[in-house]
Amino acid sequence: MIKRISPAGAIRGAIQLPGDKSISHRYAMIAAIADGATRIRNYSTGADCHSTLNCVRALGIDVGGEGTEFVVHGRGLRGLRQPSGDLDAGNSGSTIRMLSGILAAQPFTTRIFGDESLSRRPMQRIMQPLAQMGAIIRACEDKFPPLQIVGGTVKPIDYDMPVASAQVKTCVLFAGLYAEGETSVMEPVRSRDHTEIALREFGASLTVQGRKITVAGPAKLEAREVTVPSDLSSAAFFLAAALLIPGSRLSIPGVGLNPTRSALLDFLSGMGARIRLPQVESSNGELIGEIEAEHSDLTGGVIEGGLTAALIDEIPVLAVLGAATRDGLVVKDASELRIKETDRIRTICENLRRMGVEVEERPDGLVVAGRQRFRAAELDSFGDHRIAMAFAVAALAADGESAIHGAEAASVSFPQFWDTLAAVV
Ligand code: S3P
Repeated sequence: MIKRISPAGAIRGAIQLPGDKSISHRYAMIAAIADGATRIRNYSTGADCHSTLNCVRALGIDVGGEGTEFVVHGRGLRGLRQPSGDLDAGNSGSTIRMLSGILAAQPFTTRIFGDESLSRRPMQRIMQPLAQMGAIIRACEDKFPPLQIVGGTVKPIDYDMPVASAQVKTCVLFAGLYAEGETSVMEPVRSRDHTEIALREFGASLTVQGRKITVAGPAKLEAREVTVPSDLSSAAFFLAAALLIPGSRLSIPGVGLNPTRSALLDFLSGMGARIRLPQVESSNGELIGEIEAEHSDLTGGVIEGGLTAALIDEIPVLAVLGAATRDGLVVKDASELRIKETDRIRTICENLRRMGVEVEERPDGLVVAGRQRFRAAELDSFGDHRIAMAFAVAALAADGESAIHGAEAASVSFPQFWDTLAAVV
């Protein structure tokens, strides 16, 4: 699908965004192995989270509901059934990596696969800890999906995680729910902690000491009523558009403001963004609130170290924004970006160059000079949802009509993206 985007006037109004992708995945998986019926409200409409729901269904869990509200009839820690066919994780790294932790502890063998992009993403990062726990996992070339997971009894481990990855942390903690004793994960830097919050919410015994998270198994999880906050990573595109386009003023209610995710707001504010959070409250252990943003002159900045990990999903749109700042944007320590849905360092640089924006590509990041203009161009999502949406924002600020090829990729996390955008420009 090709989307044609004209330069925008001011972006104004209030928008409602889909449920958080990270939290939706976790609630669906945890609800499946909890006892009883969990109602999940504002579940993500993204294709990725529907891949998770379909996997859960294939594992014998009855999931009722539609749209954004689902009831997952959990069958307890030992209630999953061997699927009759292979599990399809689609485009979703979260589905395959996190669910593998649960599959490793089942008394049956499962095969799980994904689309072409997912079939090129590395899985050793979960295979290694799960092997230490006693699971047998076979992969294509020993690292790529499809995975064949020979489940069985898992034993607790103390895992010193070499990569900063919330998916890997979650995978190990999920397997730890089944192990007899305490399973710990030590993170190199603090990553998003939705799993810790959700597991506690569902009754698991879990402690956090600095960067070390410990879960006690075997766990007993109880069904809950939960509401997913709106997705801050989806909000990022609209916030960036509002900051970029003169005269804009936008408000987004009910957004997840978990401190391990909201580095985006601090980073933007630090560059001079006029962003306000008029009210913040707590819901199911997660912070949520309304975000208001207005067009702002931004200074520019450097993203490196732990900040890179905290902003990892927002870097595509921040790189776009960087070109319109006074001093530009430098991104370092971001080699993880090369193994996302696309090699995002490459796909960001390619699209920026098509728009006549000067950018230096580095092995672990990029440098975009400030005070640049966006030339109208033929852009490509390269099949990556965040690239499609980030360059839609750039196109709004261009000097003529641009086209985004492969625009349908946005559906992976945000199927209503194009309609929501059309409603505010
Ligand atoms: C996610 C963690 C991050 C992020 C992804 C979602 C999660 O991936 O990029 O979009 O929900 O845990 P990594 O764990 O690979 O850093």
